[in-house]
Amino acid sequence: MVKEIKIAILFSGNGSNMEHIIKTLHQKDFNVNDATYHINIVGCICNKEDAYGITRLEKLKIPCIILPHKNFKNREDFDSALKQQLETMQINLVVLAGFMRILSPDFCNAFKIINIHPSLLPKYKGAHAILDSFNSGDLEVGVSVHWVNEELDGGEIILQKSFFREEGENLENFEKKIHNLEYEIYPQAILKAISIF
Ligand code: GRF
Repeated sequence: MVKEIKIAILFSGNGSNMEHIIKTLHQKDFNVNDATYHINIVGCICNKEDAYGITRLEKLKIPCIILPHKNFKNREDFDSALKQQLETMQINLVVLAGFMRILSPDFCNAFKIINIHPSLLPKYKGAHAILDSFNSGDLEVGVSVHWVNEELDGGEIILQKSFFREEGENLENFEKKIHNLEYEIYPQAILKAISIF
């Protein structure tokens, strides 16, 4: 039997992780732990009208809902509109891919949500993780995919991957390596996450 997994991706900007996830997983079957899953990315939601990811979705022919947070009077109202949209989509999993919003506890508890973070959590939580790990001088650096709970970047880790930085490596190269690692592990982490369904 094939289990269909419906996914919504939330993003705020460039959308490169979103594009990689769609190209790797959308409308394909995968065997995980003796079960077969069919991945259906039913739609994406963006909270910024000028996000480049919207253009990517036009080319990929995936529906995109634009829900600017600035049109709502507070976090609760925005999260409640977001929740309504996701309920209509009847998704099994919410994937955050560069979604630059803190989510209210109510929202976190309403869905199964995962996120990618560009550091080896619990190190360097927050919005400047790439710069923070670059400046840290840590030899081993990497990326993490985790379940989303009420604590920012604090949920259980699903998958992490690291690399050893090269001496004298500049920020641009460092960032490129981080992003390439993200593209590699996010689809893998999604398949690992859905194996509990
Ligand atoms: C990624 O580095 C991700 O780890 C972080 O935001 C960035 C999003 O990049 N949460 P993109 O929009 O996927 O290109």
